[in-house]
This record gives sequence, C-alpha cells and structure tokens, in this order.
Amino acid sequence: MKKILCITIILLLCIGINAKTTIIQQSVEGLINPIGIDEKKPGFSWILKSTKQNTLQSAYEIQIFDCTKKKIWNSGKVTSSTSINIQYAGPELHSNSIYYWKVRVWDNHGECSSWGSMNQWRMGFLSQSDWKAKWIENEQVKGKETRSPYFRKSFVQNKKVVSAIAYITSHGLYEAFLNGEKVGDAYLTPGFTSYNKRLQYQVYNVTNMIHKGKNVFGIVLGNGWYRGTINWEPRKMVYGQNMGALCQIEITYEDGSKESIISDNSWKTSFGAIQYAEIYNGETIDANKELIGWNTPSYDDSNWKSVSVANYAMNNLIGTYNQKVKKHEVFISHKVITTPKGEKVIDYGQNLVGFEKVKIKGNKGDTIRIYHAEVLDKEGNFYTENLRSAKATSTYILTGNEDVFEPHFTFYGFRYIKIEGIKGEIIPEDFTATAIYSDMPKNGSFTSSNPLINQLQSNIEWGQKGNFLDIPTDCPQRNERLGWTGDAHAFFRTATFNRDVRNFFKKWLKDLAVDQLPDGCVPWVIPHTLRDDQVGSSGWGDVATIIPWQLYMAYGDVGVLNNQYDSMKAWVDYMNRNSKNNLWNTKKDHFGDWLFYRPDDDKDGIAAITDKQMIAQCFFAHSTQLLINAAQILNKKEDVKTYSELLSKIKEAYWNEYMTANGCLVSNTQTAYVLALQFDMLPENLRQQAVGRLVQNIEKYNNHITTGFLGTSYICHVLSRFGRTDVAYKLLLQETYPSWLYPVKQGATTIWERWDGQKPDGSFQTAEMNSFNHYAYGAIGDWMYRICAGLTEATPGFKEIVIKPHLGGGFTYMSASEMTPYGECTSAWRLKGNQLEMDVEIPVNTTATIYIPNGNENYKKVEVGSGKYHFTNNINN
Ligand code: BGC
Repeated sequence: MKKILCITIILLLCIGINAKTTIIQQSVEGLINPIGIDEKKPGFSWILKSTKQNTLQSAYEIQIFDCTKKKIWNSGKVTSSTSINIQYAGPELHSNSIYYWKVRVWDNHGECSSWGSMNQWRMGFLSQSDWKAKWIENEQVKGKETRSPYFRKSFVQNKKVVSAIAYITSHGLYEAFLNGEKVGDAYLTPGFTSYNKRLQYQVYNVTNMIHKGKNVFGIVLGNGWYRGTINWEPRKMVYGQNMGALCQIEITYEDGSKESIISDNSWKTSFGAIQYAEIYNGETIDANKELIGWNTPSYDDSNWKSVSVANYAMNNLIGTYNQKVKKHEVFISHKVITTPKGEKVIDYGQNLVGFEKVKIKGNKGDTIRIYHAEVLDKEGNFYTENLRSAKATSTYILTGNEDVFEPHFTFYGFRYIKIEGIKGEIIPEDFTATAIYSDMPKNGSFTSSNPLINQLQSNIEWGQKGNFLDIPTDCPQRNERLGWTGDAHAFFRTATFNRDVRNFFKKWLKDLAVDQLPDGCVPWVIPHTLRDDQVGSSGWGDVATIIPWQLYMAYGDVGVLNNQYDSMKAWVDYMNRNSKNNLWNTKKDHFGDWLFYRPDDDKDGIAAITDKQMIAQCFFAHSTQLLINAAQILNKKEDVKTYSELLSKIKEAYWNEYMTANGCLVSNTQTAYVLALQFDMLPENLRQQAVGRLVQNIEKYNNHITTGFLGTSYICHVLSRFGRTDVAYKLLLQETYPSWLYPVKQGATTIWERWDGQKPDGSFQTAEMNSFNHYAYGAIGDWMYRICAGLTEATPGFKEIVIKPHLGGGFTYMSASEMTPYGECTSAWRLKGNQLEMDVEIPVNTTATIYIPNGNENYKKVEVGSGKYHFTNNINN
C-alpha cells in the first residue's frame, strides 16, 4: 500500500523588496485596442502580474480620456476584486470617436500599482443615422448570374489626412481594396450571422492607405452564405437575391474638417476574373478576364456601368466583436502521389480548412482543376463521395503567362488535392495550402508522455480550427457546414480550454436568440437557414442554456447570462409547454444520442440504443437546472422558485417513467447512466449502484465507449466524479473501435464524425454522412485538461481554482496550461519511479486549492494564493 514519505513544497517566488503588482493586459469587450465598438457602455478587463505571492486585487481605478486626451470619466478608487468586464459609466460616448483608457489597482499587500499602459478603442456607429452610405448593387446580378460583381469609386483628396476609418459590410462576402491594396487581412467578411436581423460591419483604420491626389476604393463580392446555396436540402438565396455593398470612409483632415466617402450612385460596376464562387462548390477564376489594375487610380473605368442603389433597412447593422477569419498555417506538399487510377495528388499531411495557392504557367485558355478530399480510399485513390453534392473544386483558366491563383469566397476541408489539366510535371512548391480560421487567441495547451494522446490533442485542436470559421460548424467539407447546435455544446468547454472563444460564442448566442422561433423552439442550426417547420430536438436546443452557463463558468462574464436569459427561459418554457405530466415531448422525435455504437451485425442486440424520450427528460432537467442557476446569479427570485418546483416534478416524472425502484434504467446503455448521473437525475441512494451498472456495461464492451454525441462529452467526467478514473483511462487509451484512439491509429489528423469513419481495411463506414473533420467527439479534451492534468475552475472565470491531477493510465508526464481571465494557470506533473514532481502556477487575483496526489486517489490538500509552486511527493502504490 501507498505511504506518504514526504511532501516538499518549494515556493518558487522570490519576494523582491520592491515587488509590485503590474497590469499586463487590458481589453475592452474582450479585445485589445479594438476598433468599431457599438456597445454604448463597453466593459473593461485587465490581467495582473506580481512578483509577490498571494496577491489579490483589493481596489481599482479606471480613467477614460477622449480623443484630445481630456479626462471624461474617472471611476474613482473602487473597492473590489473584480477585474473582468467593469462597465463604463461616464458620459455618452460618440460614434467613430477614439477613446483612451488606463487602470491601476491596489492589492492586498497595501500597495498601489503603477498605471497600466494608455490603451485605446474606437467606437463604431452608435445610431442608424450615422450611416450615410447607400447599398449598391450590380443590377445584372440576378437569377442565374454567377459572376462576382466588382465596384469602384475614385475620389480626390488634397488635404493632410489625420484619420481615415472605413466601415464596410455586404450582402454576400466582400473583399475591399484601397489603391490596389487589400483592406485588412480578414477573409469571408462580413462573417456569418442571421443577416436579416444582425449584419456585422467591419471597421478598418485606412489612414495610411489614402494618398494625396486620386484614390480608388474597390470592392468585389461573392455569394457566400447570403445568396449562395446552403443546407443539404439545398436552399439558395436564403437571405436575398442580389449581392450588395455598403461602405463609408470617415476622413478627418489636419485642419479639423471631415468628409465621408460613401457607397452611392456615383460608384461604377463591372464583372472580372471571378466567374463563379460558392461555399460548397468552389470557385472559378478566368485569369484572362482579370481587370488588371481595376482597384488602382490609373485604371480606365469608362466602360463600367453605374451601380443601382437599393433601399434596405439599416436597423440590422451591428459591430463585429468576434475575431475575424484570417490566414494561418501554410502547408507545402508532404508527398506527391500518383494514385492507382493515375490521378495526380498532393498530400499535405494534415486535414485542414482553407484553400490552395497555385503558381502556374501553361497555355492561354488551358483549364486547371483542383479537387479537394480529406481521405484516400481503400485502394489509395482520391475519394470525394463523402462531400455529397459539394463539388469543392477550384477551376483556373490560364493566360499563358505565369498565373497565381487563390480563391476568395470559398473554403475547402481537405488534406489532399487532385490536380487536373496540368501538362508535364507537378512542381510541389507551386501548390501550397493555407489554413484559415477565426483568429481566436490560443490560450491553452495540453501535452503528455503518451504520443498517441498528444496526437489526439492535436486532432482536437485541428477540429476546432477547421470548424470555427466565424460560426461553430459541424463539418467543413460537405454540403452542410452549418452551425449545428448539438455539436457546439458538446465541444464548447474543450473549445474554451484551447482558445479564447468568448467573443466567438457570445456573437453566435445572439444569433441563436434572434433566430429562436416565437414559441421558444431553438432551430437545429444557427444561423437558422432551414425551414421553420421543425421541432426542437433534445440535446440540440439545450445549447440555449448550456453554452451561456458554461461561458459564464469559463470566463466569469455575467453579461452573457443577462443577454441570454430570456432565450434560456424561452427554451425551458417551450419544453414545458410541450410536456404532458411533466414528461417532455413524448410524441415528437429527437436526434437522440446521435451516432452511438451500432454494429453492422447486431444479432445479439449489442447496439447501444438509448431511449430518446428518456434522454429528452434528462436534458429537460439539465436546462431547467441551468436556468435556475442563472436566475440565482441574476437575482430573479421568483424564477428560482418557479423553476425549482418544475425541476422536482421533471425528476419525479423521470423516476416514474424511466427507472425501476432499484435504479435500473429502461435503456441499459452507457449514455443512459451517464446522463442520469451527470444531471443528478437519480436519488442520492441510487447513484453508486448506477455507477456500478455503467462500469459493468463498459466492461461488457471490453472497455469500449459506445456513446454518441450526447453521452460522449460526459462519460469520463461521470466516471471520475464517482471515483472510477481508472475506467475512464481505459476508455481514453483504448485503441480499437469504438474509441478515441482508433482514428489516431488509423492516421487521422482531425476528429472524425463517426467512431469508425474508415474501417481497419481502409473501406468506409458509409458515403452519406462520413465527415473526417467533426469536432463533437473531441469533447474529451475538456476531461483531459480538467481531470487528467487537473486544472479546473472552482468558481466562475477561475477566480477560485482547483488543481487536482489524476495519475493513471501509465502516464509519466502531463501538463496543461490555460490563460484564464486572470492570467496564466498551469498544472504539470511528472513521475520518476515513485517520485512525483508537480509544477503549478496560480494567477494573481485568484486563489487555489491544490491536491497533491499520494497515489490511489488519495491527496494532500493545500490552499494557496497566486504564485508558482513546486511540489515533490513520494508515491507508493
Ligand atoms: C450533422 C451533425 C448534426 C446532425 C443532427 C448532421 O448532419 O453533421 O453533426 O448534429 O446532423 O442530427
């Protein structure tokens, strides 16, 4: 048996005589020095660092200055430890104005910090009347026209410009240029929202791009989600018939005068090289039709047509807070392959989302086609059946000179490209692949002594990158790529550990709220591009309560609960109204435990089918519980009372309908027991026996997981909560199907939609629904951070932290780091024989309970404040 020989704690902090607390990061609405804030009372946050341990903030002072650096608001010294989202409370802020701010804090050692840096932010348009610009369109773009419209406007300015700020948005996707240079470095702008109700505009500082004399502003548009084909059904022109642009440059001159360059009937329009652009199908560029220099001043546009001006409501225009989609990793060929069919294929070695860049010289008029695929088939041939009707093809028509191509208004999910139309050898360096995704700051890392688990973590991260293109999508390659709600909540907490997704999801939740149907039903996908005749599905609609609550837990931002409360409540009320005897939705259908284990040969009834209504009842209870939690935080006492009563009835109805007196559930599956335990559906005295049944079930499948989307995110958490981390480790480390490591062993570089997307012999499970980049099963990442490495929040936003690693699974090393809203937190442990070494970092302004393992799930508990700590311990098992 284990015995504690010694526990040594070394405090790594040197206590400097002049030690001070300093402010190391300041953000406004979650962004550093943002531009285009249309929140009338923005929220300020900061992160502290200190050379002294046990440092807490005891007070703060914020000062705000206008563009002339005149102080307009001083919060005064506020006694508070809060450093997240302090709301502005000064005089009214003005549209398009720049403001400066700084903050200082006092700490519990009685010291006052120096002022943090003088940061800034710029307001966006605060009122509809700020928009003087008109929507402009090319009236030829109607019906079947597939070409991209180009727009240009020349303007002359001779005075010295002190600032030029461009406000741009579009119906469809846009790329904007000023004097031939691309404005900003974002792609797929203005992003994907519920356009009719919320259309984002982007704001760019273009001061340095404006020249003295003649200038040209140019815009080119693509169909995008607005007018293109979306949904598997499919539907076209969901939001509108024509593409259009809206832009306004606000120029301030040195002499104080101002001018606005706006989109209006003085602009001209034409068609150019982009012949076709669709999200699912790809892009066709004819380089012979390139309007060379079209966006520069010297270009002659005398044969361009006048634009038409359209009158659309402007009350849907909103600022952009989520990080824009940008270019990231660039891949060069990993391998050039000639397949058994004779196809010329490049393997990039990573399943990624983005597009290729091609440099090519051929004959004038030659057509090159680039196809995209995630996998090769059993024989090693290029495989695209799983893209279903999405053509995912770039078509390039050559000029005869050296041409360089890159798509503008599409993206592909691919690891391989197949090249057609090239005469002669393929020069691999001429075909690079660029990953694009929302520019969410990377704020977490997880690594361990097991290379397969490290690959799993890498696959999870790539699943996140590839499916976070402005909205959280189910998959990035086939004719879907939609904001599927069930997938998003399953993966949400894992996403928060890997990257800062606060603004990304706050934006998406607002779309959810506006797209919720009048009866409170949450559509299956957000933005809601499907038809309205749907019913809410359990485990999918519950995203309305789960993400706001978990976002609050991850980032400590109460604002999200305020924003989403009505939506949360509407969803619970919807379920309640559709219940009979407190049993939700006994008539209607749900997606259930989507993609659970279902062997082809089920003669022995081993498929892990969980009764859908029972699942629904569990989520009904969970959502109600989360609503109660939110009501408590927001001090809505009446609601706490009403929904607590409802919750008791929901649970009682569950016991009567789905559970025997001894605690046996109507479906003897992993998901049934996992949900019952995770959501506290069972009376206390029946929980331990349920854990026993769950473990028995896992053992019956030889330590394999059989859960679908709904059970997967919770199974290991439930096992750990009830003391069976040993079994959870067996599931994590299982290498045969169904398991997390089976795809890894098969060479996967992303998370698959199905446990067995590709069989050991290389054949495919199915063609119909078989994505190789679907993040939902990557939800295990959350458990790896929190339980294996043991880094978790005890209170919202990591104000209080728990560090509690779980040794096991043959791991000798594990390390997780997380940029919490208060700063860097780390939990790392290493085993050398019986010797345990632990390194922990706790951010300033937080406290932590650290559990030092003694072995056999025994711990020594230490309460600490901020600082770096090193522990050693002898473990005898
Ligand atoms: C999507 C899923 C989604 C599901 C709903 C699929 O087509 O790809 O990830 O959650 O439909 O059942």
